Amino acid sequence: MTVDIQNRLVKFKDLIPSEVPFVEGKLKGHQDRSNYSIVGPGVSEDTKQSVKIAEEHGFNIGAVRAAPMNGSGLHSHTTAEVFLIFSGSWRFYWGTEGKEGEVVCNAGDVASFPTNMFRGFQNVSDQDAHLFVVLGENDPGVITWTPSLLKKAKDSGMVLLDDNSLIDLDKNSIPEGKSAIKPIQDNELDKFDNYTSEEIEKFVIRAKDHDKYLQDDGHFNSNTILNYIDNFKIHEKDLSPLIEHNTGFGLTLLKGENSHIHPYTLAESEIFLCLEGEWEITCNDQKVIIGSKDTFSSPKNSTRSIKNISGKDGSVFIVRQKN
Ligand SMILES: [Fe+2]
Repeated sequence: MTVDIQNRLVKFKDLIPSEVPFVEGKLKGHQDRSNYSIVGPGVSEDTKQSVKIAEEHGFNIGAVRAAPMNGSGLHSHTTAEVFLIFSGSWRFYWGTEGKEGEVVCNAGDVASFPTNMFRGFQNVSDQDAHLFVVLGENDPGVITWTPSLLKKAKDSGMVLLDDNSLIDLDKNSIPEGKSAIKPIQDNELDKFDNYTSEEIEKFVIRAKDHDKYLQDDGHFNSNTILNYIDNFKIHEKDLSPLIEHNTGFGLTLLKGENSHIHPYTLAESEIFLCLEGEWEITCNDQKVIIGSKDTFSSPKNSTRSIKNISGKDGSVFIVRQKN
């Protein structure tokens, strides 16, 4: 059977976002935001969230658009969360009060946040901006909100139920047999980890420092590769990662005007996510083209190759399943 790979091409402009994806979605600073589920549902609490590719990849990929001074409230994850900044400037802050530390990331930066810590983020540029998020595992679980955030959300009419679905009390009441999720107790807040800004900065790879990190793969002579997470094995090369987080996926950036990877076959799921330029992917003799913010998922066991066809510098993220 021939698989039509066009179904695995996700054009960003065709995606349908959720406008109230999370419980804090009606609060100031969180209300002008769109959430996109590209691979897997992610951790969206909106039961109507459209999911573009449901097939299990071993990770989830989503995106966020936010207006200036909007973003996500303080929450913690049980699996990896890696942010890929596509445009604008984003301030990440953390701690149970959101005051433990902060980093500001710009277009092209990558930040990998540890599990078990409260983090929030906001667009601190003066126009709409986008970031992408890679979450670990097929099922990234549910997120934990700080008790104070859940209280403020409830005052705005938004309640998170014990099955992790959202209820807007202005439109619906809590269905029979379900109840609001119990916020964690204040003494449980101590179980979450603390980090200084310097400690988190070690998990941030900034675009302005790319030259320091870029590796020439030595084989094609035209590729520069930035390997963020997990070893990147390609043909006879094996590149070590810049960030020592065990996320369950690999994350790599392929960059350069004449950048290309010759055909290779992989048993695992792998996606290409275009940051800049235009890239042609050949997969089992079919071709697709991705531009900025577009994603392509290569089927398991397929033979694939990729090349920059924009005639100028470009870069593409490669996310690969590891377990
Ligand atoms: Fe998150």
